[in-house]
Amino acid sequence: MNDMTTAKAAPAKTLPDAQTVTEVKHWTDRLFSFRVTRPASLRFRSGEFVMIGLLKDDGKPLLRAYSIASPAWDDAMEFYSIKVQDGPLTSRLQHIEVGDEIIVRPKPVGTLVHDALLPGKRLWLFSTGTGIAPFASLIREPQTYEDYDEIILTHTCRDVAELEYGRQLIEDLKSDEMMRELLGEDLDKLRYYPTTTREESPKMGRITDLLRSGELFADLGYKEGMSPETDRAMVCGSIGLNTDLKEILEGYGLREGANSKPAEYVVEKAFVG
Ligand code: A2P
Repeated sequence: MNDMTTAKAAPAKTLPDAQTVTEVKHWTDRLFSFRVTRPASLRFRSGEFVMIGLLKDDGKPLLRAYSIASPAWDDAMEFYSIKVQDGPLTSRLQHIEVGDEIIVRPKPVGTLVHDALLPGKRLWLFSTGTGIAPFASLIREPQTYEDYDEIILTHTCRDVAELEYGRQLIEDLKSDEMMRELLGEDLDKLRYYPTTTREESPKMGRITDLLRSGELFADLGYKEGMSPETDRAMVCGSIGLNTDLKEILEGYGLREGANSKPAEYVVEKAFVG
């Protein structure tokens, strides 16, 4: 033993609203997902988003809105993100590792929630790119299957590799004991419709074109079109997709809803950058 007094370590810099990264998965050069611990106080509705981020060099938080990809019953939180090499947040966030801390502000909000839609029979979830994140939450939420007879998830990406997160999500869901009970005898209550636009795959094309041509309905064995009596839709993608789909849905007579005024469809922009 020596009698030297040890210098007291400087107090560790703790982030406000810090949560610990428990898993990171890189899907492509452009996409990754990660899981973090969930704040004890955080209650949210499947489909909502929260602000998450990191501290900047000047000590101020840099936050962006991220859809929570995990369902409300999960004890951890999952996020699915793009990597933008010169994006202020994702250029740094893409390097997080297990054990790192990120900021998660425990104030969930958003319109892609069941409360913003009137009761219906068929629920369409239209997504492009990372816009699948809120639907990854909703298709793991038992209420989705209680409220609707059929749920159709469409996901459009540039190439096949970008569909992998969604493909695996569906595969895991169909092999999960608890989820299988919700999916019906033939596991067909949830229908998955992946398409690509820039690489050859079994189904190609923008979802807007597949809707307009009627191909989407034909592929699923439905009569062409949607009805405001039975169809409900949620849309999450780029601004272009959201604008074009709104026009198509309004053309079928569906009206945009909100938490304060539920209607037949809701839209939210997927986070970019
Ligand atoms: P496209 O390859 O024809 O642009 P991104 O990776 O740029 O976010 O795009 C994701 C997917 O969304 C791509 O397959 C892209 O098709 C598609 N997309 C982009 N804009 C629209 C739009 N206005 N309507 C329908 N799909 C779109």
